[in-house]
Amino acid sequence: MVDFWSYYVPTKVIFGVGSVSQLKETVDVFGPDKILLVAGKQSMKKLGIIDKIVEDLKAYPVVILTGIGDSPKSEDVSKGVQLARKEECGLVLGIGGGSAIDLAKTIATLSQNSASVTECLSGKVGIANRGNPIIAIPTTAGTGSEVTQYASIIHEEKKISLNNDFLRPNVAILDPSLTATMPKFVTATTGLDALSQCIEAYWAKNHTPISDLIAVEGIKLIFENLLRTYEFPAEIEGRSNMLLASLFSGIAISVTKTTIVHSVSYPLTVHFNVPHGLACSLTLPLFVRYNSENDDGRILKMANCLGERTVEDFVLKIESLIQQLKLPNRLGEVGVKCEDIDLLVKEGFRSDRASNNPRVVTAETLRELLNSIS
Ligand SMILES: [Fe+2]
Repeated sequence: MVDFWSYYVPTKVIFGVGSVSQLKETVDVFGPDKILLVAGKQSMKKLGIIDKIVEDLKAYPVVILTGIGDSPKSEDVSKGVQLARKEECGLVLGIGGGSAIDLAKTIATLSQNSASVTECLSGKVGIANRGNPIIAIPTTAGTGSEVTQYASIIHEEKKISLNNDFLRPNVAILDPSLTATMPKFVTATTGLDALSQCIEAYWAKNHTPISDLIAVEGIKLIFENLLRTYEFPAEIEGRSNMLLASLFSGIAISVTKTTIVHSVSYPLTVHFNVPHGLACSLTLPLFVRYNSENDDGRILKMANCLGERTVEDFVLKIESLIQQLKLPNRLGEVGVKCEDIDLLVKEGFRSDRASNNPRVVTAETLRELLNSIS
């Protein structure tokens, strides 16, 4: 743990079945002239969720930006910023999975800044001003983006994570009933993203007493509920617990940042189209074993908290969950060939994430570890 620590997760959270009914009241606090609604995929329109929200917000003009696929690109942000400025939208509402919420957060912020998205992604130009208010409504249970200061954007075939306090939503409305229509595959992969985030937050060098508590509780909730929601999608108590676990994972990484598992996941998503949570779960068991060999016994302590006797029992528990969710666990199964591992190392080894890992990881050790699951 670092010598001193802070805790700053200022997003107001409204949680519970039916809580989306609080949206109009929540918007009224900000009183915008016009709202930009950013939604991920057409499926939400088909399910009637967008129509219902527009109806609830009939007191306000609403401009809709929808149809964005997985992982927003820098061009999507630029188009959204232009639209928000042209329409003079005073509030951005993001509804969908992590990609839609990341896009909404970035549009809301950059529409009030002179820096372009590409300048911000280059890291050479900072975000100077607070943007328009952001309300986030997740419809998946995985990224926790509704409470974080991060937004992942793809630019020139690289997935880059913006990190700025102005990206934090003002309000997050978490209504488990909105997650009940998630397809099984999305339930599984987003749930594993939350699991990776909680475990990485726990072992991160930046961990704090508060993030430890939240991360361990999130891991417990995921082991108790992910398979249940996968097998019984309409069962609302399981959905509610998974949405809570996802929220916990977002709060935890908001404090600690992620580590090597997340950084290696990025090239898997960009070059091999592996969904984010699956990309994380591919290397998660590997790094639990690797990190536990030099972590002051913290991972064993976490395993014990979860009722496991040894770290190896904990790893087997993760591997069994991945198997029961019918997901692959080797790189070859997602289209990565042995000769592609160089690319994963080149783009997946990021010094900021590696230095937050409890055990030293070099590019060479990363290559060896990836080869062991090829
Ligand atoms: Fe993630």
